[in-house]
Amino acid sequence: MCGIVAAIAQRDVTPILLEGLKRLEYRGYDSAGVAVVDNGALQLARAVGKVAALQDTLNNTAVRGALGIAHTRWATHGEVSERNAHPHVSSQRVAVVHNGIIENYATIREMLVAEGYVFVSETDSETIAHLIDFELRRCPSLLAAVQAAVAQFKGAYGLAVMALDTPDELVVARSGSPLVLGLGIGENFVASDVAALVPVTQRVVFLQEGDVAQLSRETWQVFDAQGEAVERVVHEASQSDVADRGGYRHYMLKEIFEQPRALADTLQERISHDALLPQSLGPAAEKLLATAENVHIVACGTSYHAGMVARYWIETLAGVPVNVELASEYRYRDVVVPSNTLFVTLSQSGETADTLAALHFAKSAGYLATLTICNSAQSSMVRESDLAMMTRAGPEIGVASTKAFTTQLISLLLIAGMLGKLRGRLTSAREAELVSHLSKAPGLVEDALKMDKAIQALSEDFADKQHALFLGRGTQFPIAMEGALKLKEISYIHAEAYAAGELKHGPLALIDEDMPTIVVAPNNDLLDKLKSNLEVVRARGGQLYVFADADTGIRSEPAIRVTAVPHMDDLIAPVVYTIPLQLLAYHVAILKGTDVDQPRNLAKSVTVE
Ligand code: AGP
Repeated sequence: MCGIVAAIAQRDVTPILLEGLKRLEYRGYDSAGVAVVDNGALQLARAVGKVAALQDTLNNTAVRGALGIAHTRWATHGEVSERNAHPHVSSQRVAVVHNGIIENYATIREMLVAEGYVFVSETDSETIAHLIDFELRRCPSLLAAVQAAVAQFKGAYGLAVMALDTPDELVVARSGSPLVLGLGIGENFVASDVAALVPVTQRVVFLQEGDVAQLSRETWQVFDAQGEAVERVVHEASQSDVADRGGYRHYMLKEIFEQPRALADTLQERISHDALLPQSLGPAAEKLLATAENVHIVACGTSYHAGMVARYWIETLAGVPVNVELASEYRYRDVVVPSNTLFVTLSQSGETADTLAALHFAKSAGYLATLTICNSAQSSMVRESDLAMMTRAGPEIGVASTKAFTTQLISLLLIAGMLGKLRGRLTSAREAELVSHLSKAPGLVEDALKMDKAIQALSEDFADKQHALFLGRGTQFPIAMEGALKLKEISYIHAEAYAAGELKHGPLALIDEDMPTIVVAPNNDLLDKLKSNLEVVRARGGQLYVFADADTGIRSEPAIRVTAVPHMDDLIAPVVYTIPLQLLAYHVAILKGTDVDQPRNLAKSVTVE
């Protein structure tokens, strides 16, 4: 998704801006640009494609300056082109970069056209530049002009604005799209993600919803949505806010292999040797969880799949009815909220626009409380929820979610157990058993990662395929969905997942020797049913690739290729069976030569609708 970097310093800021943009590349984008003010001139450089292309453009220009704003764009309004790339400039004196979407831009644009403004792009963002310029004609300062402009916007924005006439001032604003200030000595910075600031400063300030901030080289001041000057806390950014590939070929591979550590960290202080510790969620948690009679889980993409697994766990362990829904659907229907319902959002980023909108709705919809399970401590969802449980995956840079997913799963299994315990459904013996399974998860995942070589060999069968089918039953059905999502997003092979019992209701028609069928088969109560489903595929000439517990008795034979997965209790199996599917998608993508960490058309954090 779009990225913002801005700087006001006593040196040329273009290298700082470019380095910042490079650090935001993982978010996904299609064009990039920079504008600087220096010596009475506003200069602009933009390029379609990667930041490297912008760098080449800059190398051939004299764009240098001590005040600058920069952007990576992920197209929403208007095609991918240089003229739609940011920064957008008005009257050769105001330059703006924008993350988010201005929903009422058409009305504002109409007014501005009537005022004589000429639009050169198809973006909503250009409206912002012209409106600020328009307001600047009647406001005493750039700050006042930005405040007057943002008061007219409906939608989401993170903005950085500068003007030719005020070379000692940078103004930024946030609503629905994150922004963080970076404080230096005699220089200050802004970015949409702390990762972009780490090379220049560790002292950061996270802006809150509705904030507008004014920065000079020596000072910074934040104003709230009412225009009142407010204090905001200065944080120390930690090393964990930064990430590198650590010798791995791709972030995704590194993140797959980090999962044992991430799972162990996520469990820390939430379990003792034989008990779950619900008080680790904060003082209000025990009472709220004990009172919950229903759970609504809302999320997108991979996080939604984690929620689907949680439904099985919570209903089994806590006996509480669970509804799991895609945030983009939930937010636009008439939701009935039964009494004492806990509302849960799942999100790696904590900034996903649809999930955040669902949370905003839920806060006034009569829920018992809101809980977010999130990987980003400073995110909007964490700030705005009553309870937060942090997944401790660490920064996830690959667009394809891996460690964020398995740490969400382990967090959800913890929550399911905590609900069961506090609602009196889980006996102490069963609780101790659950804790023992949870604490084995990091080791089991470590063992599953040893399948890497075998899966790399397996991946060769997929490189020339156009389609693939994933099958699972029970908690493994959402795992099959996650496997299909991983394969399609990074290898661009069309993949679909079905609950294996659904096969006969339509998808069976697709089975032939060109449609590989990938099956996740732990040794559980549904095994015999699953085996029958496999026979049905085999009888129609299908090629089966089965990840199976050695105890299942499923053996490799013609048309069935079995890869053994270590034995484990079925409760923890969704976490472990995810690993071979992640590795398969990764190795197939390598063979296909796709951009593994930044797949085409996708963004890491989807902060627009
Ligand atoms: C999956 O690999 C994707 N990264 C995507 O589906 C993602 O899970 C979705 O966009 C939700 O993101 P969130 O967890 O940050 O809310």
